[in-house]
Amino acid sequence: QSPSLFSETIIQWQASQGRHSLPWQQNPSPYRVLVSEMMLQQTQVSTVIPYFERWMAAFPDVADLAQAETDQVMALWQGLGYYARARNLHKAAKTIAGLGDFPFELADLLAIPGIGRYTAGAIRSFAYDSWGPIVDGNVRRLFCRLFAIEGVPTSSAVDKKLWTLAEQLTPLKQNRSFAQALLDLGATICKPRQPLCERCPLQADCLAYQQNRVAELPTAKPK
Ligand code: ADE
Repeated sequence: QSPSLFSETIIQWQASQGRHSLPWQQNPSPYRVLVSEMMLQQTQVSTVIPYFERWMAAFPDVADLAQAETDQVMALWQGLGYYARARNLHKAAKTIAGLGDFPFELADLLAIPGIGRYTAGAIRSFAYDSWGPIVDGNVRRLFCRLFAIEGVPTSSAVDKKLWTLAEQLTPLKQNRSFAQALLDLGATICKPRQPLCERCPLQADCLAYQQNRVAELPTAKPK
C-alpha cells in the first residue's frame, strides 16, 4: 500500500470512527498539547482528563507554568505517578517562556529539555497541523502488526525501523487528523488484547492478520 493511500484510509476512518471530544482536542495550542501529551505518556485517557482540566485552570498558559512554584506543580501532578514528567514539563515551560514564543520547527522543539521525539512530533501534528512523525506505544503495536515486525518493539533495532516507517508514512497535510487516527486506531481497534480486527480499516493490508499472528505480535518483552 502506498503511503498516501495509507494516510487517506486512516484519516477517513478517524473522521467517522475516531475520538473528537477529548479536552486537549479543543483549542489545541502547543502548550495544551505539550501538557496533555506529557500526562498521556504513561497514563490512560480517562485518568488524565480531570488532571488536565485542573492543570489548565491553574496554569492557563506556558508563562503561568514557568512562573509557578515547584510545590504547586507537584501538587497538581499528585496521583498521576512518574513524577519526573512533572519536573520535565516545568523545566520545558521555563525554557519556552525564556524563548519568547513556542518553537515551531521540529529541531527547535527537540532542543528543549524534556521534549523528546514523540512529544515534538505530537506538538507539530496536533498543535500546528504540520509534518511531525509520532511513535508511541499505540503506534508501535499497530506498525508491528501491520508490517509483521518481529522483535521487542522498544529494542533499538525495532525502534529505529518504527521511526523510519513513521517518517515515510506521515503525510504532508492533514497531520492533525493523521496523528489522531494513529492513536485512535491503536487505542480502540488495534488493542493489546482482543483487537477488533473485523472493524479495522487496515485489515486487508495487515500482515499479522493475514498470517494469523495478531495475538503474537508485537513480540513480548522477555521476563
Ligand atoms: N494518547 C496520547 N496522545 C493522545 C491523544 N492526543 N489523544 C488520545 N490519546 C492519546
